[in-house]
Amino acid sequence: MNKKIIALMLGLTLLCVALAGCGKQSTLDKIEKNNKVVWGTNAYFMPFEIREGEDVIGVDAEIAAAVAEKLGVELVVEDMEFESLISALEAGTVDFVGAGMTITDERKEKADFSTGYWTAVQVVTVAADDESVLTVGDLSSLVIGVQSGTTGDFVAEELSNNPDTGIMRYNTVIEAMQDLKNGNIDCVIADDLPSQAIVSQTEGLKILDLQPSDKETYAFAVKKGDTELLAVINEVLTEMMESGEIEELVNKYSLGQ
Ligand code: ARG
Repeated sequence: MNKKIIALMLGLTLLCVALAGCGKQSTLDKIEKNNKVVWGTNAYFMPFEIREGEDVIGVDAEIAAAVAEKLGVELVVEDMEFESLISALEAGTVDFVGAGMTITDERKEKADFSTGYWTAVQVVTVAADDESVLTVGDLSSLVIGVQSGTTGDFVAEELSNNPDTGIMRYNTVIEAMQDLKNGNIDCVIADDLPSQAIVSQTEGLKILDLQPSDKETYAFAVKKGDTELLAVINEVLTEMMESGEIEELVNKYSLGQ
């Protein structure tokens, strides 16, 4: 091949590489350009997120607002099914997720997590007059209600002798609790604070003194590789944890439930 042609091809290749580099817009660039950041959540999870009319309020909402403020842009909320949150990140429909989401190894393969900001545990709720569940082992033959795709769902899968018929999946913990109250299922496995919030507002339910699984850590999530945005979120979380604000917010939104 002629030297000139080789040089030309090499030049073209370099140009393509350079252009691709410039064309690849980071999520942070997109946020700055659009002057808004999109927060993905599932707003049926008090005290972390709950709908109040058109707004979403709660601990995660305050963290998300602080992230938007640090970025100097407007906050837009996308309220969706919990199970869709990570794919929404991957698709770029949302820029970051904050949904009382537990860090798990499986999720870490699909998204990058911030530093943890809260420790939670799964609890078991039953009808107030149910005295039959004494140990975690007793759960294996029960019909367990869970929020679909949550860690409560994964715990139920491990505990149930009959995962095909022994687990009822709902879009929200509230719906699972309602079905428990109506006597359609035997128990609900879900995160402690949201369970407590619902049980304190619903007659006829109680939380058992059982721990069906290990402690969990909540964190915010970004699309894999969005390190600049993650650094901003981490900065906000660290500030809010060190000042005691997260704790205060959890108390604030747990009160009056
Ligand atoms: N911590 C649990 C999980 O990560 C449940 C989270 C549910 N969050 C919500 N906003 N509905 O699987």
